[in-house]
Amino acid sequence: MCGIVAYIGSKEAYPIVVKGLKRLEYRGYDSAGVALMNGDLRVYKTKGKVSDLESAAKDADVSGTIGMGHTRWATHGEPNDANAHPHLSLSGKVSLIHNGIIENYATLKEGLEQRGHTFTSETDTEVLAHLIEDVMINSGLSLADAVRASLKQVVGAYAIVILSKDNPEHLIAARKGSPLVVGIGSEAGEYFFASDATPLAEYTKKVIYMKDGEIAIVENKEMTIKNIDNVVQVPYVHELEMNLEMLEKGGYDHFMLKEIYEQPRSIYDSYRGRFNAASGTFHMRSLEEYSEQLAQIKRLILIGCGTSWHAGLVAEYLFEDFARLPVEVEYASEFRYRNPVLFSDDLVMAISQSGETADTLAAMDLAKRKSATVFGVCNVVGSSIPRLSDAGAYTHAGPEIGVASTKAFTSQVTVLTLLALGIAKARKTMSDKEISKVMSALEEIPDKIEKALLLNDEIVKLAETYKDSRNFLYLGRGYNFPVALEGALKLKEISYIHAEGYPAAEMKHGPIALIDADMPVVVIATNSEHYEKVVSNIQEVKARKGKVIAVVSEGNTSLDKIVDHVIQVPETIDALSPLVNTIPLQLLSYHIAVMCGCNVDQPRNLAKSVTVE
Ligand code: AGP
Ligand code: GLU
Repeated sequence: MCGIVAYIGSKEAYPIVVKGLKRLEYRGYDSAGVALMNGDLRVYKTKGKVSDLESAAKDADVSGTIGMGHTRWATHGEPNDANAHPHLSLSGKVSLIHNGIIENYATLKEGLEQRGHTFTSETDTEVLAHLIEDVMINSGLSLADAVRASLKQVVGAYAIVILSKDNPEHLIAARKGSPLVVGIGSEAGEYFFASDATPLAEYTKKVIYMKDGEIAIVENKEMTIKNIDNVVQVPYVHELEMNLEMLEKGGYDHFMLKEIYEQPRSIYDSYRGRFNAASGTFHMRSLEEYSEQLAQIKRLILIGCGTSWHAGLVAEYLFEDFARLPVEVEYASEFRYRNPVLFSDDLVMAISQSGETADTLAAMDLAKRKSATVFGVCNVVGSSIPRLSDAGAYTHAGPEIGVASTKAFTSQVTVLTLLALGIAKARKTMSDKEISKVMSALEEIPDKIEKALLLNDEIVKLAETYKDSRNFLYLGRGYNFPVALEGALKLKEISYIHAEGYPAAEMKHGPIALIDADMPVVVIATNSEHYEKVVSNIQEVKARKGKVIAVVSEGNTSLDKIVDHVIQVPETIDALSPLVNTIPLQLLSYHIAVMCGCNVDQPRNLAKSVTVE
C-alpha cells in the first residue's frame, strides 16, 4: 500500500507534499517521511502519522522546490523511525520512496553486503536505494540510466521516486505493479507525482497514468517518459474529473459517515444514463460492444477481495436469477494460486474499488493467460484493473476515502445488477417487461436509501446498548447472506469487535454453540420467500437467550414481541434488498466504532488499497 507524493517546480515543495500525504494517508499510516532538495538533500521521517511528521519537522529547514514524501503501510520491517521512508543509499546521496515489494531484496542485499554495503533498516526498499548508487558508481552510468539498470534486476512491484544530491535539478519516478500518476502543472517544468490523483486535484486537471515498466525523468524543466529499454514513450494526457469537494469531509466527522450518507447520490451516479426503464434498454458501451460475446458466455467467474468479494456474492444470485448463468465467486488471492480450469467462453469479472488490489490483478492476469475474457468492474478511473480488462464498467461512486468500503459496495452491486440484466437481455433469459420492472425498482432505490438513513438516531441508541459486546453474529439468507458477511466485516475492521457472518440456516451446524445471553445476533429478515425460514432461525437464537436485532421490512411488526430490537427498512424487490439492508449495518458499525474510540477512517493494520499480496 503506502502513499507517495512528489513535487518539482518553482513552489515550496514541503506544504504540497505534506498536504498530498494527508490525502493519501488512507493507504497507510505506520510512518511518514519527506526528502527535500535545496542545494542539500534533507530527510525527515518518523513513526506514526503525517501529523507526527509535521511535529517532528516543526523547527527544521523544510525549504526547497523539489521534494517527495511517503506514508507507509509496512510490509518489511516493523513500523519505526528507521524503517520509515525515504531511504538513503550508502553515501546518503540517493534518496528513494517506494510503494510495493522488492521480492528479491534478500539476494540483492547479499550481493551489496559483499561489496561492503551496510543497512540501517529492515526494509526491502533501502536495498534499492543502495543498488542504484552501486550501479551508478560501478558502471559510471547517469542517475536515470542507473535507475533503469537497477530496475532490470528487481523482481517485484514498485512505484518509486528518487532524488539525488548530485543531481539537484532531477526527479526520477518509475512504476511496475504499483500505481503512479503524474500531474502536469500550470507552469513550465512543474510536475506532481502521486499514488493516486487525489493529491493532484487541487493543482491540475491534466494527468498521466503511468504504465507498468515506465520511468519518468524530469530534468531541466522537461519530463521524458521512457520504458525499461530506454525507448521514449508518448503518454496520453487525461482530463481529471475530480474536484476538491469530493476529497473533503464536507462537515461530517468522518469520511466513512460522509460516504454512507452519499449513497443515494452514488447509487444514482452508478446507473444514471445507463438504461431506460420504460423500454428496458441499455446505454452501456461494454454491453453494446460485447453483446454478441456476452450472449455466448457459458460461465461467469467473479473475483475480488474483501467487500468487493461480497459484492461478487450478491452478483452470484443476480446472474443466476436474471441471466441463468453458472456462476462461481472466487477470492482473487486463492484463485491466482490455483490451477483453475478456464475456457475461452468463460467470462471472468474482476470487482474492485481501488483498481489496484494486487491479488485481483494477478488473478486477472492468470485468467487472461488461460484465454478467458476479463471484464473489470472498478471505481477508480484510470487504475490498473480497468487497464488490464478486455472490457469493463466504472462504478462512478466517486472517491472513497474511508478505509471501510461503504458507497463503493452499493455502487458495485448496482452496476453488477445492470450487467446481470444486460446479459439476461443478450441471452434472452428475461423479457423486456421483466427487465423494465427491475430497472424501475432500481430507480426507487436512492429514495429508499434516503429513508433508511433516517434510522440513524435509532441506530445510535442500539450502538450504545451493544458497544461493549465482544462478539457479534450476523445472519441472512439468499441475497442477504452476503449482506450478513459485509455487516460483520464492517464491524470487525473498524471497531475490532469479533463478528461473523453466516447463512442463517447454517447456524445450527456450528455457530449456534456460541449463542448465549451475551451474544448479539443481527438478523436480516426483510420480506422474501425465505422470510418464514429466517423467523424460525430467529426463534432458535431466542430459545438460547441470544439478543436479536432484526432488520425487517417497513410495516412488519410481527417480530416486535419476539426479538430485542427491530429496525424497519423500506421494502424493495428481493434482488435489490442488499442495497437497502446494508445501510443500517454500516451505520451500526460506524457508531459502535466511534463509541469505542476507534479511528474509523484509518483502522489499525489496514490500508485502503492492498497493492501487495
Ligand atoms: C473493505 O471495507 C475493505 N477494507 C477491503 O476488504 C476491500 O474491500 C478489499 O481490500 C478490496 O479492495 P478493492 O475493492 O479496492 O479491490
Ligand atoms: N515494502 C515497503 C516497506 O515495507 C513498502 C510497503 C508498501 O508499499 O506497502 O516499507
